[in-house]
Amino acid sequence: MKTHIHPEALSALKKFKLPEDLAFGKVLAPIMIVANYVDGKWQDADLLPYGPITIEPTAKVLHYGQEIFEGMKAYRSETHSKSFMFRPLENWKRFNKSATRMGMPEMSEEEFMGPLNTLVSYLTPFIPRRKGESLYLRPFMFATEQSLGIKPSDTFSFMIVASPVGSYFSGGTISVLIEREFTRAAPGGMGAAKTGGNYAGSLISAHKVKKIGANQTLWLDVHKENVQELSGMNFFMMIDGVLTTPPVSDTILDGITRKSILQLAKDSGIPTAEKDIAVNELKQLIKDQRCTEAFACGTAAIITPIDSLVEETGEKVMLKDGNGPMAMKLRNHLLEIQEGKLADTHGWVTLVEPAPEF
Ligand code: COI
Repeated sequence: MKTHIHPEALSALKKFKLPEDLAFGKVLAPIMIVANYVDGKWQDADLLPYGPITIEPTAKVLHYGQEIFEGMKAYRSETHSKSFMFRPLENWKRFNKSATRMGMPEMSEEEFMGPLNTLVSYLTPFIPRRKGESLYLRPFMFATEQSLGIKPSDTFSFMIVASPVGSYFSGGTISVLIEREFTRAAPGGMGAAKTGGNYAGSLISAHKVKKIGANQTLWLDVHKENVQELSGMNFFMMIDGVLTTPPVSDTILDGITRKSILQLAKDSGIPTAEKDIAVNELKQLIKDQRCTEAFACGTAAIITPIDSLVEETGEKVMLKDGNGPMAMKLRNHLLEIQEGKLADTHGWVTLVEPAPEF
């Protein structure tokens, strides 16, 4: 699968200026990748200027939500002109797992990585370099077949857009709402797939989060008992000095940041546990100061300390170490690897070859 470079994309790149103020997902890169799946195979990709796309009003994605996406990042260090991505093959593998769950075609490593490398190579000069900043990459695939019958689409589009980003959360720490009314995922469902529907289902709770002045929802399992994950991030706790997180299952997204943190903790001799914790037990552990810290982690959030858990009634339990000393230690360790400042002993960092001069 080739990627055709359109001259309009290069003109858009020449005009682009990286703003100072980035936040998350607000500034969009001026180019994007588009490829189509027709007659049972992926066609060549195009590198185009970022812009609106046309879609049939009856495209299946708009009615039945057949869609998947990934979140990944590219970095450029202060000392290096080249850029690199963090564990991109893990994203490729998870993309295919999501595709399978959603009845969509898989992509070969070359079909996924080829256009991705091309996009990042052209965007390298625009990757911000301050600590915690990066180029967020959003590959996604959606059903384009026009017909209202409920059946898997025969045609799909694959696109990659990118955004130079800073912090996902503007404050230093976050507060999470315990969601006791709705659930995010059920066994046998699609909770482990990175598909828009899981995020759409979380938005009703985002209204409550806003009303109560929190930042994210903490989801429980179908029995409304054990903690699972946040709306767009995995969840960690420090309990009796053990770095603890719920085990991944078909109701929890298998986070790449999550598994990297578990590995880094093991490398540093920090005890870890992947086990279920009931939310009421967790509240008591926090009150007894046995659970001293909690944090959110994900590609977008990196690692963000949680200072409190809040109930819809307004009841709040504050974490003893709400500023997250362990979270910050792990965050720095992870960022130093991601930003190319620490030796990459696990082979997590993949160099991107620079684009030809234009
Ligand atoms: C990511 O961390 O990449 C995600 O996909 C989460 C999203 C809610 C920003």
